[in-house]
Amino acid sequence: MRPFLSTGTAEFFVARQPRKGSTMFELRNVSRRFGNKLAVDSVTLDIPQGQMVGVIGRSGAGKSTLLRMINRLADPSSGTIHFAGTEVSKLKGRALRSWQRDCAMIFQQFNLVPRLDVLTNVMLGRLNQRSTVLSLLSVFSREERIEAIAALERLGIEQTALQMAGTLSGGQQQRVAICRALMQQPKMMLADEPIASLDPLNAKIVMDALRDINEREGITVITNLHTLDTARNYCERIIGMAAGKVVFDGKPSDLTASAVKEIYGTDKDGAGIDESMTSTSINIADPAAQAAATESAGPQPLALAGL
Ligand SMILES: Nc1ncnc2c1ncn2[C@@H]1O[C@H](COP(=O)(O)OP(=O)(O)OP(=O)(O)O)[C@@H](O)[C@H]1O
Ligand SMILES: [Mg+2]
Repeated sequence: MRPFLSTGTAEFFVARQPRKGSTMFELRNVSRRFGNKLAVDSVTLDIPQGQMVGVIGRSGAGKSTLLRMINRLADPSSGTIHFAGTEVSKLKGRALRSWQRDCAMIFQQFNLVPRLDVLTNVMLGRLNQRSTVLSLLSVFSREERIEAIAALERLGIEQTALQMAGTLSGGQQQRVAICRALMQQPKMMLADEPIASLDPLNAKIVMDALRDINEREGITVITNLHTLDTARNYCERIIGMAAGKVVFDGKPSDLTASAVKEIYGTDKDGAGIDESMTSTSINIADPAAQAAATESAGPQPLALAGL
C-alpha cells in the first residue's frame, strides 16, 4: 500500500505561513441576525495562527453562519473581525477577494465543477490570484499544473487528474476540494462539516489530511463538526455553540459530560445527550479497508495532463 500522504512534494506548500501562534485572529462581539432570528449572538474569540479548532453544536446553533462570516460569505450584523491587525469585516473589492483567497473554504457538498476534470478544478483555486483575462481563458502555467499535481499526489488521488470531477466518489471529491484549497495558498482553512457526507473511512482520510496541513504548514484550521469524537480526536481546541452563543471553549480534555450537556442540551425526555449519538466511529484500524479507500483508477501518464 502506498503511503497516505506523500512527503516528496510538501515543499510546494511549506514556509508560506506566519509562525505558529504569531498572528491572532480576533472576533469581537460578532452577531448575525436573520429577521428576528439571532443566528450568531455576540461571539468573541481569539485564535492564534496554526491552531486546529473544532466547532460543535446542535443543528441550527450557528456554526455555518460563524464560518461564513469569517470568510465574508455572510456579513456580521454587528461586531468586528480582525486578522493580523486588518479589519476583515470592513474589506471591500480587491482586498476582500484577497482575504477570501487567504481563508479557503471546504464544504460538505464539495462544490467542485462536476464537468471539469480534476486537475482544472484544483487549478481553479489559483484563479483569483490572476488577471481577469487569464482567469477567463483558464490559462494555467506549467508551474501551476505541477503544483496542482503535487497537491493531488499529496492527497493520494493523482491518478484521477484527468477524470471529470463529477465521476469521483464523495471521498475523492472532498480530497480534490482540499487540493483546490491548497492551491489558494491560504493562511486559514475553514471547513463546514467536511465529513458529514462521507463514510467513516473517507472521513478519516479527509480529517487526517486537514490535520497534516495544519501540522506541516501551520495553517489555521477551523472546522465545523457534527460528531464529538472527531472533534476530540483531531482538534486541540473545541468551541461549543448553542443558540448562537459560545458556551464552551477549551481543550478536548475539558469537555466534560456537563459541558457536552450544555452544548447539546437534553432530548425531549429530559435525558442528557449520549456521546455515542454523535459518533462517526472514525477509528479505523483495518489496513485492507484503508487500501480500498485509496483505490486507484489506474495510473495516468502525467504527460496527458500537459506536463
Ligand atoms: N440565510 C438565512 N436566512 C435565514 N435564516 C438563516 C439563514 N442562514 C441561517 N439561518 C438560521 O440561522 C440559524 C443558524 O444556522 P446555521 O446554518 O448557522 O446553523 P448550523 O449550526 O450550521 O446548523 P447545522 O448543524 O444544521 O448545519 C438557524 O436557525 C438558521 O435557520
Ligand atoms: Mg451548518
